[in-house]
Amino acid sequence: MIIAVDGPSAAGKGTLARGLALHLGYHFLDTGALYRMVGLQMLRTQTDFTDVAKATAFARDLNVDDFEDHELRSEVVGSAASKVAVIPEVRSALLKFQRDFAKRLPGAVLDGRDIGTVICPSADVKFYITASVEARVLRRFKELQGLGIANSLQDVTADIKARDDRDASRSTAPTLAAADAIVVDTSHLGVEEALELALGAIKAKFAI
Ligand code: DC
Repeated sequence: MIIAVDGPSAAGKGTLARGLALHLGYHFLDTGALYRMVGLQMLRTQTDFTDVAKATAFARDLNVDDFEDHELRSEVVGSAASKVAVIPEVRSALLKFQRDFAKRLPGAVLDGRDIGTVICPSADVKFYITASVEARVLRRFKELQGLGIANSLQDVTADIKARDDRDASRSTAPTLAAADAIVVDTSHLGVEEALELALGAIKAKFAI
């Protein structure tokens, strides 16, 4: 069973995907963390974002044990991730890991931008999670505050808008709802409501 959860930054897809995985006893992969790790390596080594060879090498040599690195969650690293994510070679280097992960039993929930369209086009259930820019900015602002990472509301707004533009306009695997995705707007939904709605859709489809 493969569940794809796609959508723009801070729409609530990570929280929903994690909740689904926990509820259903499935494996969970935050694919954004893969791009964030590559972005973080680029920043740490002061590598220019036009250096395709270096970025691709970082993507090939990822150490998934670094997944819990606190620095990964910052907006600076989010922007860096969005920049390396436009490089087709980086995306190709991360493809196999994601597809292999998706095959884990009894099931897997993957969240990202291109799960339902490119990574797992035949996923059993696809969600596209979206929300207004205002709602997403506020959520990200609070999330960063909770992590002790200081950012002004203005900076978070600018970062989210820039990331939206870059992620949606790139030529390889842009942020896109798959034609068969269930679209959920979480602007006015709480975490539990969104989870219930998604679980309801899965149960209705598979009678589980
Ligand atoms: O979901 P996130 O904010 O952690 O993702 C960080 C960046 O990584 C995002 O701006 C675009 C990129 N990304 C991607 O291109 N494809 C994915 N499947 C996941 C993330």
